[in-house]
Amino acid sequence: MTIQRPAHPATIRFTDGADGVVILDQTLLPERVEERTLSTVEQVEEAIRSLRVRGAPLIGITAAMGVAAIATQEAALGTPADALAAVVRAACDRLARARPTAVNLTWALDRMRAALDGAPAAAPPAISLATALVTEATAILTEDREMCRRMGEHALGLLAGDGEALTLLTHCNAGSLATGGIGTALAPIYLAHEAGRAIRVFADETRPLLQGSRLTAWELQRAGIDVTVISDGMPGALMARERVDAVLVGADRIAANGDVANKIGTYGLAVLARHHGVPFYVLAPTSTVDLATPTGSDIEIEHRDPDEIRRGFGRLTAPDSAAVWSPAFDVTPADLIAAIVTERGVHLAPFARSLGEAVAAAERDGKRLS
Ligand code: MRU
Repeated sequence: MTIQRPAHPATIRFTDGADGVVILDQTLLPERVEERTLSTVEQVEEAIRSLRVRGAPLIGITAAMGVAAIATQEAALGTPADALAAVVRAACDRLARARPTAVNLTWALDRMRAALDGAPAAAPPAISLATALVTEATAILTEDREMCRRMGEHALGLLAGDGEALTLLTHCNAGSLATGGIGTALAPIYLAHEAGRAIRVFADETRPLLQGSRLTAWELQRAGIDVTVISDGMPGALMARERVDAVLVGADRIAANGDVANKIGTYGLAVLARHHGVPFYVLAPTSTVDLATPTGSDIEIEHRDPDEIRRGFGRLTAPDSAAVWSPAFDVTPADLIAAIVTERGVHLAPFARSLGEAVAAAERDGKRLS
């Protein structure tokens, strides 16, 4: 099966010369399709914090490409290798703090630091350092593309059935807009659609920033896939009234025991899915698995600006002085998850051993996916 290209401009690419990063500005979707060029560490950090780029894999890719672009600029200015390395390390430290929950961010930056340390000391050193960083960032992007496709193929097996029409439910956006490829949770949907299978997707709106209605519905619609938006209060009613074959979601961090942090609302969806006997599947690359975090309660949860709830999209949507609680993510306990799908395969409970082996294999094989 071929790798499907998203039906929209690339979520991210280098400028010619790799001294900047061009992103699709996701805060403007679906109203406007506009690219934006990031040239400084401040701009890269702002783009990640404000969700111009978002989704765990894409956050990591953006940080890596941003660091490489900054190194390319420094090399062009004639900055000596030691000073260039110091600038890159400071950029990595700064970007690592931009959002705390998605572990892909620190995973990608760790790879950039390792690429810096392992770069050949051939002359001219500053240029070879920058080249090594651009090469590594490009590898992170292209590997992500391949991982998405593999996750999609593995998950197709779970949805195989007898070829009948499928009704699927997803939350937030874990699609092509969240990755360098065809997404994580949406990857099997794209592949099944490409293979001619009839699919209907329900996309949770995903309060408060509407990644489901603004982004998932947009990208699926552009790809010609039947998508229906529902608000976050509706999945229970939907499962009670219609057949839903599976819930597919992505992840921002998967703890060693299989607990999953993902967009706020995911946990409630998993409880509903259990109640209604609907399988709940999590799709994420091994770069989202954090073996250093034993359980979900050890995952740091980002809290967002209360005004994202009080003044949603510029209108007063709660009393001005209302107290607001705004975690961006929640944790779904492993026992509510039917399977976790990585690029290495389908992992079933108990997850600890299988996830540990998948991460070890990914680290051992380096860039080789098998
Ligand atoms: O706040 P966001 O939009 O970055 O949250 C994104 C999610 O929660 C996604 O489900 C997750 O990052 C997986 S993306 C493949």
